[in-house]
Amino acid sequence: MPNTRFADNLVDPGLFPSEQGAPHRLFDAWRAQDPVHWNPPNPDYASPIPGATLSKGFWVLTRYQDVFDVSMDQERFSSYEAGIVVWDFDDDELERQRANFMAMKPADHSAVKRVIMPPFMPGALGALAPRIDRLAAEIVDSVAARGGCEFVFDVASRLPVHTFCELMGIPEHYRNQVADYGNALADVETRASHSLDPAIGLFAIAQELAEEKRRNPDAGLMSAMVNDAALNLDPMAVNQFFLVFALAGHETTRSTAAHFFHLMSRNPDQYALLRNDIDAHIDNAMEEVLRYTSTTTNFRRTATVDTKIGGQPMRKGDKIYLSYAAANRDPAVFEDPHRFDITRPNARRHLAFGAGPHVCIGARLARMQLRALIKEIVTRLPDIRLVGEPEWLRSIWFNAIIRMPVAFTPSPNPR
Ligand code: HEM
Repeated sequence: MPNTRFADNLVDPGLFPSEQGAPHRLFDAWRAQDPVHWNPPNPDYASPIPGATLSKGFWVLTRYQDVFDVSMDQERFSSYEAGIVVWDFDDDELERQRANFMAMKPADHSAVKRVIMPPFMPGALGALAPRIDRLAAEIVDSVAARGGCEFVFDVASRLPVHTFCELMGIPEHYRNQVADYGNALADVETRASHSLDPAIGLFAIAQELAEEKRRNPDAGLMSAMVNDAALNLDPMAVNQFFLVFALAGHETTRSTAAHFFHLMSRNPDQYALLRNDIDAHIDNAMEEVLRYTSTTTNFRRTATVDTKIGGQPMRKGDKIYLSYAAANRDPAVFEDPHRFDITRPNARRHLAFGAGPHVCIGARLARMQLRALIKEIVTRLPDIRLVGEPEWLRSIWFNAIIRMPVAFTPSPNPR
């Protein structure tokens, strides 16, 4: 159950587990009566992030159009001013947050983006596709004969971790460690309970790798970042870059794959449709799952001037919560928005990847990985089904399933 003291407050980490996802009953009510909703602060929140609190209240945008418009307008709604996440930071921590290119000044953000975009373009991804397909097949091979497994970590997390490591140029011996730290970091609420803060663990690996890539440059992203003379990033920016990718490149794709099979299990008619003609339905089914689940439920912006959003006045410095989860269930854009329908004609209009100058640069890659993994599973383990209740992450940020037991008819390894 949500902590009753914070009931109906989005900064209650018990909310997603109790609702099995984003709290759409709240979003619907607010969108209907109070679409730019004031969420009060939570001064008692025991912050797991050093230097962070939830001491400021914020405006929750529940309408698709408002989330979209604000995402497009960095001048009035800044990612730099106070960072991109819902937590409020002291000066030292804010400086560290701003070393992350997602929260840099617009000109610096564009400069970094120029360096890191090439591997995410269609040509480069096309070259990666056979490796992704092979990895997806190997992952399914590793569980197929067992007749069941824990889906999230035995299956869903492995492809994004490997792909991200290949892309970055992270050698094999670091990979498990990077995955463990990435997972620990996504589990924000328990971050403080680890003997080593996962961010510190990732920073140490980032520095070792940066040294290595300076000595021996290669075609990976890490090498591009540390060897680009024009960028000349300081160590904190390199660390933050590494951390963003360890988190963004992994948890999100893993959770979407888990949501996919959770939803298929709960909606057998939709799964039957998919199985009957996977090539016809797989792409739209993925978009519908992205829309329906919005695994990254929110990012933050800060108003740089006194302004209005959707008619609601707000002050310079106000915190704004872009609720992708609410936007993606807005009936003004998605007919009967709570219906899960893999044939929905406009499913791809969702904002699960954000919009505007900070739109997800990994969206194409995420889609490629999801497609490869889902197709392999549906083809090889067609009767895959849940055999226990999934467990949700306690989080105020990610709508993530972290444990999901599944069963399927054992399938021999064809290779
Ligand atoms: C289902 C999978 C994914 C989801 C739902 C997702 C979601 C998002 C969202 C909502 C944003 C917008 C942030 C903002 O506006 O401030 C974003 C940005 C970003 N994502 Fe993803 N993401 C996914 C996969 C990936 C992958 C696979 C990678 C990389 C390997 C990645 C890397 C990034 C980066 C670097 C940014 C920052 C872009 C910028 O600020 O210019 N994401 N993502």
